[in-house]
Amino acid sequence: MKKHLLFLGPPGAGKGTQAALLSEANSYLHLSTGELLRTEIDLDTDLGKEVKDIMNKGELVSDQLVLEIVKKNLDKENKGWILDGYPRNLSQVNSLNDVLMNLNQPLEIVFYLDIPDEVLIKRLIMRGRKDDNEETIKTRLKIYKETTEPLIDYYKNLSLLEYINANGDLKTISADIKQKMASR
Ligand code: AP5
Repeated sequence: MKKHLLFLGPPGAGKGTQAALLSEANSYLHLSTGELLRTEIDLDTDLGKEVKDIMNKGELVSDQLVLEIVKKNLDKENKGWILDGYPRNLSQVNSLNDVLMNLNQPLEIVFYLDIPDEVLIKRLIMRGRKDDNEETIKTRLKIYKETTEPLIDYYKNLSLLEYINANGDLKTISADIKQKMASR
């Protein structure tokens, strides 16, 4: 069973939803940088105060800051983990590679959740999180296409990528992920 996974895809593709289901089923750590940052905002910590406006605008918080969060949370016991929302650019990829090399926990599968823009926009508007308004979604999507999308080819070249059609019902998508995990 593969234990070191990454969910990649645009906002609203269902990364968080599917990572939560899979981590629960396998008792893996679900490491969502977005969730961890939102908790800091809810607790009104110094870190939360620092990132609140940036996140509400849909921009990326600094690479250094998210790296600290990832390092603090990655399980040294190696029980298995799913990264969700990290890395988001090539600099974060390089930092992650260093962290994982030090932990001796190489990434084993990258699930790329693909979904048309019009479907994800509808999903996000319907969810109505603080950063789910039309303007912010536009910014998040633009940043995704410019800085995160190139990671698809990066991981494809390393033969780590599994394509998932994320435009369907939850169960079908979960089953596809499980089947691809089992066949590796
Ligand atoms: P983050 O929380 O990672 O937001 P995101 O990438 O925009 O992703 P979402 O949570 O919107 O989408 P998702 O793909 O997880 O979909 P979900 O399962 O939630 O990041 C937020 C912010 O934090 C960033 O903008 C940035 O500021 C900062 N940040 C985070 N990580 C960072 C990093 N590494 N570097 C720098 N900054 C960082 O589903 C969406 C909705 O669709 C839900 O309502 C869900 O119920 C629904 N849904 C899911 N699947 C289905 C389905 N199959 N059918 C119908 N509805 C579905």
